[in-house]
Amino acid sequence: MHTEICERLGIEFPIFAFTHCRDVVAAVTNAGGLGVLGAVGFSPEQLAVELDWIDEHTDGRPYGVDIVIPGKYEGMGEDDAAKLEADLEAMIPEETRAFARRLYEEHGVPDLPDDVAPPSLLGWTLATAMPQVELAMEHENVRLIANALGTPPSEVIEDIHGHGRLVAALCGSAHQARRHVDAGVDVVIAQGTEGGGHTGEVGSLVLWPEVIAEVSPTPVLAAGGIGTGRQMAAALALGAQGVWTGSLWLTVEEADIPPAQMQAYLDASSRDTVRSRSYTGKPCRMLRNEWTDAWEREDTPDPLGMPLQFMVTGEMVARHARYAEAAQPVGFNPVGQIVGQMTKVRRTRDVIYDLVEECIETTDRVHSLLHDDAAAPA
Ligand SMILES: Cc1cc2nc3c(=O)[nH]c(=O)nc-3n(C[C@H](O)[C@H](O)[C@H](O)COP(=O)(O)O)c2cc1C
Repeated sequence: MHTEICERLGIEFPIFAFTHCRDVVAAVTNAGGLGVLGAVGFSPEQLAVELDWIDEHTDGRPYGVDIVIPGKYEGMGEDDAAKLEADLEAMIPEETRAFARRLYEEHGVPDLPDDVAPPSLLGWTLATAMPQVELAMEHENVRLIANALGTPPSEVIEDIHGHGRLVAALCGSAHQARRHVDAGVDVVIAQGTEGGGHTGEVGSLVLWPEVIAEVSPTPVLAAGGIGTGRQMAAALALGAQGVWTGSLWLTVEEADIPPAQMQAYLDASSRDTVRSRSYTGKPCRMLRNEWTDAWEREDTPDPLGMPLQFMVTGEMVARHARYAEAAQPVGFNPVGQIVGQMTKVRRTRDVIYDLVEECIETTDRVHSLLHDDAAAPA
C-alpha cells in the first residue's frame, strides 16, 4: 500500500482527495491520505485563513493546494489582474449574461444581497493564481501544488521547486502528460472522462495505462471513477502510484455542502451526469439538469470560452450556494459518474479506511487466484 509517492510526501496511504472544504482536507490528511484544497474560489486573503486553519488542525501533517491555470485562456499574457479582468468583462455579450440570469429568475432564485459581491475572476488565470501559489509557499506543510487545466508555466514550477515542494498536474491524454513531464512536473494525475469537474473524453481504464507508459518512471495518480477499494486496486494494478479522488468527498459528513445539493448527489445515478461547458467554458462533468439542457439548445447562446463563461456564471454559483433549494434545478453540481455509488453520508475517516481495507482484500483475492492451488482445476 505504501508506494514511492507516499515516501516522498510523508503520507501513509496513496489516497489523494481534492476538495473545496478545509474540514475534509484536514480529515483526509489526519486519516493518512493527502487532502488537497481547491483554491480557485478563494481570494489570497481567504486562502490564508483556510491554510492557517488547516495547519492548526493537522498537527504538522502534509497536505496540498490545487490551483487552476488553464493552458489556454482568453487574455493570456496579461499579468495585471485588474486590467485583465476589465478587458475580459468588455468581451462578454449582454445576451449571454441576460440568458444566464433569466434561467435563475425563472426558478425564483433571489439575487445576492447588496453587500455580497459575486465572485470575480479569482484564480482562473496565471495573474490571479500566482498570488495563491505565493501564499501556499508560506505554509510549509503544503507539500504539493496541483494544477487543474494545463501545464503550469515554467516560472510557477521553478518557484514551487525552489521551495522544495512537488508539482502535480492533471491530464486527459498521454500527449498532455508528456508536456507536463517535459516542463518539469513531478506527479501526473491522469483523469478519465468519468471523473467530476473538468474532464476529457477518454475513459480511465484506457487512459491510465497510456499515460503511465508515456511518462514512466514519473509517478502517475489515477483519477476518474474511483469510489471503492476495488477501483483503487485496479488503479494500482495498472501501475498507478496512487489514486486522486474528488466526487467522493462531496457526500462526507465534513463536507460543507447545502443540504439540497447533497441530497441531489445522494439521489443521482451514474447515468445522471453530463459533460457541459455551460458553467466554466470548458467541458466539465456535472449533474445534468435544466441549466445544462438549456445551454445545449439551438436557440440559446453558446457558452463562452474560459474564463469568460465563469465571469457570467460565477454569480449563479454564489446564488446556488446561498439559495440551494430554489436553485437546485439550475444549479452547478460538478460530480463524476461515481455519484451513483455515493448513496449515504459517511465520515471521511471511514471512507479512507474502507478504501484501504477493500483495496487490500481485492489484491489478496487476485493474488489467491494466481496461486497454484487455487488455479488448479478441481
Ligand atoms: C466538485 C468538484 C470540483 C472540482 N474542481 C476541481 C478544481 O478546481 N481543480 C482540479 O484540479 N480538479 C477539480 N476537480 C477534479 C478533481 O480534482 C478530480 O480529478 C476528480 O474529481 C476525480 O474524479 P472523481 O470525481 O471520479 O473522483 C473537481 C471535481 C469535483 C467533483
